[in-house]
Amino acid sequence: MQNNSSILALFILIFSVQVCIPVVAQKKSNMKDQTPNEVRAKKILSKLSLEDKCGEMTQLAIDVTLNGEPYNPVEPQSFDMEKLREVLIDLRVGSILNVAAHAYTRERWYEVMDTIQTIATKEKKNSIPVLYGIDAIHGANYTVGATLMPQQIGLAATWNPELARLSGEVSAYETRASAIPWTFSPVLDMGRDQRWPRLWETFGEDVHLASEMGVAMIDGFQGDDIGDKYHVAACMKHFLGYSIPWSGKDRSPAYIPERQLREYFVPTFQKATDAGAATLMICSGEVNGIPVHANPALLKDLLRTEMGFKGLAVSDWDDLIYLVNRHRVATDMKDAIRIAVNAGMDMAMVPMDTQFPILLKELVQEGKVPMERIDEAVTRILIAKIELGLFEQPFYPMSDYPDFASEKHTQISYEAAAESVVLLKNKNNSLPINTSQKVLVTGPTANSMQCLNGGWSGTWQGNNTDYDNKDKKTILQAIQDKLGAENVIYTQGTSFDKTQNLQAVTKAAEGVETIIVCIGEMSYTETPGNIDDLNLPDAQIELVKTAAATGKKVIVIMAAGRPRIVRELEPNADAFLMSLLPGNEGGRAIADIIVGEINPSGKMPYTYPRYANALMTYDHKGTDLPKYDFSMDNFDPQWEFGYGQSYTKFAYSNLKIINQTLSKDDSIEISVDVKNIGNRAGKEVVQLFITDKVASVTPSVKRLRAFEKINLKVGEIKTITFNLPISDLKFIGIDNQWIIEPGDFEVTISNLKSDFEVIN
Ligand code: BGC
Repeated sequence: MQNNSSILALFILIFSVQVCIPVVAQKKSNMKDQTPNEVRAKKILSKLSLEDKCGEMTQLAIDVTLNGEPYNPVEPQSFDMEKLREVLIDLRVGSILNVAAHAYTRERWYEVMDTIQTIATKEKKNSIPVLYGIDAIHGANYTVGATLMPQQIGLAATWNPELARLSGEVSAYETRASAIPWTFSPVLDMGRDQRWPRLWETFGEDVHLASEMGVAMIDGFQGDDIGDKYHVAACMKHFLGYSIPWSGKDRSPAYIPERQLREYFVPTFQKATDAGAATLMICSGEVNGIPVHANPALLKDLLRTEMGFKGLAVSDWDDLIYLVNRHRVATDMKDAIRIAVNAGMDMAMVPMDTQFPILLKELVQEGKVPMERIDEAVTRILIAKIELGLFEQPFYPMSDYPDFASEKHTQISYEAAAESVVLLKNKNNSLPINTSQKVLVTGPTANSMQCLNGGWSGTWQGNNTDYDNKDKKTILQAIQDKLGAENVIYTQGTSFDKTQNLQAVTKAAEGVETIIVCIGEMSYTETPGNIDDLNLPDAQIELVKTAAATGKKVIVIMAAGRPRIVRELEPNADAFLMSLLPGNEGGRAIADIIVGEINPSGKMPYTYPRYANALMTYDHKGTDLPKYDFSMDNFDPQWEFGYGQSYTKFAYSNLKIINQTLSKDDSIEISVDVKNIGNRAGKEVVQLFITDKVASVTPSVKRLRAFEKINLKVGEIKTITFNLPISDLKFIGIDNQWIIEPGDFEVTISNLKSDFEVIN
């Protein structure tokens, strides 16, 4: 044992040095600090054999237990009871995940869960219930007929944390109503690379906005007690550094200096940890040459010792074998298991390979994985199961959930969708349009639920129309409802990348006043969403130009997971709406915005680039700006983070800072008046940015430090007051620690600016 711990210590030291994160001694837990759930977990643990423990640490995909092959179940699906018993009784597997191939009905979910939990708790010797996990990332998206909410990027565009909370609450309710207690959500990776195919799964590019949204969504998922029948355990993911791969491609290497890692990528996870997120998923990628699954400096020293996360850490899909065949840091699966478990992984999402518990047991017997590490991991898993109430009642009767897909939930989804749409251009008040006219609707995203819902909707890629909820409306159908089908002509014009019939578009435009061109992307996620070119395919640019050439009013709707470049087509649009995967009610919300029943209030959660080679975030550095002519004003995005118009106008005045000289322990009070000076009620997001004028580490040009969404009637004026602790102005200093430096700061709210000073 002695020997093993010194090898482990050396191993930790080597990895820590490589990512430059200082090793901090592990805190010893004190018996009397233990929570009742921890005491209960340890009692259960004391009765478990090594086989039981290795089984508890295993998570398999449901495929492994079904008739048919992994990824290819026999339909209609059914358990192969022999395989299921082998998994649950012989291997003692503690967790199962996912759907095989496609969404299940609620009835099927109940059958699945009943069969699994009955065997686990009645036939298996240790009687420990199974922890079932699912990607319910925008509603219970793997349950037929569930309420599908906007994806995270859409929620971020609402700038309304209450909608993120409600969205989490609806998702939790409908996930439990599908007999499942654990969701792999939210994504707390920062959406700071516009090429990455999972950008839309994030809350966008800003740390503050993403932190507020993440905490709110977790609150909705977990409520006060994850053990009640309406809440689930959240799983913040993917820790850490997944979202800015060097190549822009999913699951490819990231290179993130420790300062950036700490300043931009840790805070969302820290805030969620402080807010009590129950579980965490480890990042599939490698950061600075070290796969995260093999990095104790991140998984132990940073996550546990520094950040204080106590919950269970599950691997991502197949990431152990990837240590062998992709990252090449392990010689074989057994070596990979040794590395990942010792690095701090508690549960392995293997997900189709049943060797994990067998090989892990051998590793323990050979002294290559210490028993303390196993006990630590299994204790965390048992605590999650206890907190979720699985030992008392693994799931509740279906009849306990009358609100599944109810009008109430649909309304929440609609409100979130309506606030998520961003009006980016509105030349001569082209929008809203009057309803007594004929319109032409065209484009590849016009008549598709996939382009509103995105990936993880019915199926993994979200691209199978069989799982569309037939009552829900595409953009085209919702416009037909508003204007009357006889007033809406539809011709698709082009597919996503191939022109079909532009003459038909020109011809159809003859009898209409307005052309609504719906462009964008098909649904995708992860590796299948990788692209080589952020430019929008030519076929779609041509479609917009064809529409403009008719001389009719052109409204462009971009429905996409990431900002495909529109520089060339944008001048052809009279109005431009951004649809950020608003979910099942998105079509209705967009149609209501087009006719003016809803006043748009979404703001961009990321910076929309103008050129594919000029990908920047709003909070770039001063030196990010040099132009070919030596000027320093080369930040010229199509639309900046935070931007979004309304059908009304807001005037800002009276920016006041109560005390303009403050010390580091003070809070600063900043107030501003906002007035609705237009002729419609509207919602506005008051955004407070602060610029650190001089700092020992080059400061960003500005950072969002606070925001508030308000509702103003015509002529109404509100005074908004922000109370900001000066400690929020901290940054990661030269020695890679958070510091606050005295000096001058500038506040910007809308077009107003004011200064203050922080003294020692
Ligand atoms: C994804 C995770 C997801 C997991 C389980 C992985 O491929 O990266 O985000 O939670 O699969 O479905």
